[in-house]
Amino acid sequence: MKLSFYYLLTILLFPITSILSQTGNTYVGAETCGMCHKTEKQGNQLSIWQNSAHAKAFETLKTDKANQIAKEKGFLKPASETWECLKCHVTGYNLDATMLGKKFKVEDGVQCETCHGAGSAYKDMKVMKDKKLAVEKGLIIYEKPEELCVSCHNNESPTFVQMDFNEAWNKIKHDIPKE
Ligand code: HEC
Ligand code: HEC
Ligand code: HEC
Ligand code: HEC
Repeated sequence: MKLSFYYLLTILLFPITSILSQTGNTYVGAETCGMCHKTEKQGNQLSIWQNSAHAKAFETLKTDKANQIAKEKGFLKPASETWECLKCHVTGYNLDATMLGKKFKVEDGVQCETCHGAGSAYKDMKVMKDKKLAVEKGLIIYEKPEELCVSCHNNESPTFVQMDFNEAWNKIKHDIPKE
């Protein structure tokens, strides 16, 4: 009897725990990452990103030019409300509110966590200092950054211009300075 009770309990609990672990990571927003990633010593990631086109990618969808493009493609809503545009220009638009932290802003466009993954579980100093653990907790880093870039910089983009990777990377690179 005892055995079957635990067996039953496991079956009952399994779906709950697996759902919890899937929704474990939430998006904390660029400001939160920027608390640590903003000094000269760290590599000024926050201001480099703020001054990049990526930070303005949502704003861009509010322009007349964007609405014109959306209209020509036959979309009925403004570009900033059209999923077929938002999917490359922002993170978080189609996500459940429970996945978005209080400081997360959809208006921040293509932001830290768009490329590095939802940060709630890896953003603490203790985890960040342990690269392996950070990756286990959801931090995404890239062997081949180019593959990331072409997931958005491709001819599905209505204004696509072929970019030179090195040139483009130089515009947005945000390395931690070597001692
Ligand atoms: C509490 C401070 C803190 C916060 C908040 C923080 N980081 Fe970090 N992060 C660090 C430190 C310190 C390092 C460098 C660790 C080292 O040099 O070994 C680091 C390293 C990194 C690395 C490089 C990993 C590697 O070794 O290649 C990435 C990428 C990164 N952080 C992204 C983020 C993102 C994205 C966020 C927001 C979701 C974030 N960090 C939030 C402190 C922080
Ligand atoms: C999630 C989609 C996405 C990813 C991934 C992405 N980009 Fe972008 N990128 C955009 C969007 C959208 C814009 C246009 C922003 C605007 O002008 O409002 C842009 C603009 C740029 C620009 C400015 C345009 C220009 O020609 O000067 C550069 C440079 C750039 N990206 C480089 C990169 C590089 C390098 C990578 C890979 C490491 C990358 N991007 C990955 C979506 C993305
Ligand atoms: C368009 C995609 C993109 C965005 C947006 C982005 N990163 Fe990165 N980041 C990369 C790529 C690609 C690399 C280089 C390969 C790697 O280490 O993952 C990188 C590297 C890093 C590194 C490690 C640098 C090193 O020297 O090892 C840190 C730290 C970092 N990013 C933090 C951030 C923070 C903080 C933000 C937001 C303020 C941010 N990134 C926004 C794509 C991005
Ligand atoms: C596959 C990803 C992707 C999709 C989908 C996408 N964009 Fe973009 N968009 C980009 C990238 C990357 C850039 C920057 C480089 C470029 O133009 O190729 C950009 C740049 C732009 C720009 C600025 C270009 C300029 O020269 O001023 C506008 C405006 C724009 N997109 C509007 C839209 C609209 C409207 C939609 C939906 C109908 C849309 N985008 C869908 C990826 C995308």
